[in-house]
Amino acid sequence: MKICIIGSGYVGLVSGTCFSELGNNVICVDNNKQKIENLKKGVIPIFEPGLEELIIRNVKQKRLNFSTDVNNSIRNSDIIFICVGTPTNKNSNKANLKYVYKVVSDIKKNLNKYKIIVTKSTVPVTTGDQIEKILESKNKIKFDVVSNPEFLREGEAIRDFMYPDRVVIGTNSKKANNIMKNLYLPLIKKKNRYFHTTRRAAELDNRIGDRFLRAGPGYGGSCFPKDTSALVSTSKQFKTNLSIVKSVINSNKSRYKILLNKINKIMKNKLKSKNITFLGVTFKPGTDDMREATSLKLIPYLINKGSNVSYYEPTGIKSNFNNNKVKYINNIKDACKKADLIIIHTEWNEFKQLNLKKISNKKNYKIYDLRNLYSPEKMKEHKVSYFSIGR
Ligand SMILES: NC(=O)c1ccc[n+]([C@@H]2O[C@H](COP(=O)([O-])OP(=O)(O)OC[C@H]3O[C@@H](n4cnc5c(N)ncnc54)[C@H](O)[C@@H]3O)[C@@H](O)[C@H]2O)c1
Repeated sequence: MKICIIGSGYVGLVSGTCFSELGNNVICVDNNKQKIENLKKGVIPIFEPGLEELIIRNVKQKRLNFSTDVNNSIRNSDIIFICVGTPTNKNSNKANLKYVYKVVSDIKKNLNKYKIIVTKSTVPVTTGDQIEKILESKNKIKFDVVSNPEFLREGEAIRDFMYPDRVVIGTNSKKANNIMKNLYLPLIKKKNRYFHTTRRAAELDNRIGDRFLRAGPGYGGSCFPKDTSALVSTSKQFKTNLSIVKSVINSNKSRYKILLNKINKIMKNKLKSKNITFLGVTFKPGTDDMREATSLKLIPYLINKGSNVSYYEPTGIKSNFNNNKVKYINNIKDACKKADLIIIHTEWNEFKQLNLKKISNKKNYKIYDLRNLYSPEKMKEHKVSYFSIGR
């Protein structure tokens, strides 16, 4: 199968690489020249466990290629996956679909034979209908527009792709469904994980499970915040009041304030000149993604209050704080040794077995565990001044 992936970010690069690993011929396209140049040299733009090895292997086997030439890549392919970003529109909270529609206009120009156009980007319900209308308006050539929502989690993306909970394909076309089923066959063969539904239903599909329901400082990242806002916007269009989703958004927005209150309480409102160390600053483990991370709200507040803030982060220094008062320290031991307060912000595995009893030289140092990695009873036994979430 000849596959063209347009948008080689988290979703596009992971999907394209995995499809090539399954034996398909894949071209990953991006309009960011630097990104494509780097990928051609084997420089991977994101940190994602296992991705680099897969890219190198499949490039070597000539199954995986990178290009900025969107026109030829579309013309030479049977299936085109749209994987560009759909950020929140600043003024309206709606999903901004300009990148998606730019790709659709490129496809329209280059529709030279039957193709399947797949939206993997997260788009509001009925976007597939709009894409179909645009493509129909000029072409006599047959095509199908399919919705194939992506559920991968950054940090576990390769595993999520190769061992999916489910593959959802939304289309009314028997032909497109057969082709998509064949494409995913190696992943779904053993278990009944292929769900064929209508395109609109697939655009609405959601995944809520216990893996997402853990103690934490609120959700962040590139998906949940923007997708919940877009969902509320779409519901307005359909005159439906999604009050639960609205409450979730509001609760998440103010979550960091609750954490700041608690930090003040733990430190008895004495934050000035206190050494505060963050363990992890990314929004979740397994990724270097800082988008909407709670640390971006907590750290500036603490700096403002006169605390000396430092952090250790397994994926290295971050430029996001834009403040030379925040210090990156490249190992846990040195990061924590003078801490008055240690905040476990992200649940990286390397934070799960720390000797918290001896982690700081300071008398009466405190630990605030935002991920509930440790047992309060054990901490009490060890006489560690330990605070966690909701217990
Ligand atoms: N990141 C995730 O974990 C995740 C999970 C599920 C779904 N999604 C959804 O998938 C979509 C993509 O997300 P992402 O995180 O991969 O985004 P991203 O920002 O990492 O990547 C998007 C890429 O598209 C490229 N691009 C934009 N316009 C282009 C064009 N006209 N031609 C070629 N390339 C173009 C950008 O340069 C960028 O490299 C979004 O809709 C997102 O909501 C993301």
